[in-house]
Amino acid sequence: MADLSVAFRKLRLANPVMPAAGTFGFGAEYGELFDLSLLGALVTKTLTLRPRPGNPQPRLWETPCGLLNSIGLENPGLEAFVAEILPGLLASGVPVVVSLYGETPDEVGTIARRLPPGVAALEVNLSCPNVPGKLSVLSPAEVAARVGAAREAFPGEMWAKIAPEGDFLASGLAAQAAGADAVVAANTFRGMAIDVEGRRPVFANVAAGLSGPAIKPLVLRIVYELCGALAIPVIACGGIASGRDALEFILAGAHAVQVGTANFFDPLAVPRVLREIGEVLSSQGVEVLEEVRGCVRKR
Ligand SMILES: Cc1cc2nc3c(=O)[nH]c(=O)nc-3n(C[C@H](O)[C@H](O)[C@H](O)COP(=O)(O)O)c2cc1C
Repeated sequence: MADLSVAFRKLRLANPVMPAAGTFGFGAEYGELFDLSLLGALVTKTLTLRPRPGNPQPRLWETPCGLLNSIGLENPGLEAFVAEILPGLLASGVPVVVSLYGETPDEVGTIARRLPPGVAALEVNLSCPNVPGKLSVLSPAEVAARVGAAREAFPGEMWAKIAPEGDFLASGLAAQAAGADAVVAANTFRGMAIDVEGRRPVFANVAAGLSGPAIKPLVLRIVYELCGALAIPVIACGGIASGRDALEFILAGAHAVQVGTANFFDPLAVPRVLREIGEVLSSQGVEVLEEVRGCVRKR
């Protein structure tokens, strides 16, 4: 079995595969299906300062090879998470990455400051197309302000999860300059669907986030470009559903991968992706994942 361990600036993970924020809840249901200690890390659904009920139904809409979602950051809020959910997650031994979203840089700092010790990393969600009134993508200056606030409040490993739209290179560079230890690329693309009979948009919020296999080639190009431009690690997220998908991103230079929508059509997707990475590497005689990272760039 190849050595799949991966080193970040302030964190080392046993393997590079983790669920994407919001597609794995807090792990409870998946923990009944497989051993969560197999995960490189567990990324929580995004937490906000106060509880959020999320958007009205419908919230999910299937598209060819993809999924539109408009969940609207439904979550129990920071206080309930820290008191009732986090202790169990930390006790499970799996590295816990807390995803957070703040309406303002100050709010990002407030949430980051209130996280107790033991959290492996923070993931700052810098794009949420599904929050009412927030259909635009953050500018690089807004990215820098939020990442800077998180950096001031949280001394540990901190990741910036950017939008795939707008000037993603400028956003990645802004996150790096503001102190992010890694960039996660990326969140969903803004899309929409129309109810032809009802003659109205399917989603109350009009736009929704597109994810799944449909976006993989788009995100692969983004990750490839970010890996060429940034000095910090890039974590790939977009349409990954197999070990070969994950390896495409790693060959492009990604340090790690996150599996999102695939969890909905295969609840065992994360451990399967991990197993398949090992199988492909073994078949190629590769003993250390590090050997192949970014190798398409070196040709
Ligand atoms: C139902 C659903 C809920 C999501 N919730 C969040 C969230 O809470 N925070 C976040 O940063 N991203 C969220 N995302 C985006 C995913 O984490 C991921 O960035 C995106 O879906 C692309 O990866 P995928 O194609 O593998 O799903 C959500 C995606 C889906 C489909």
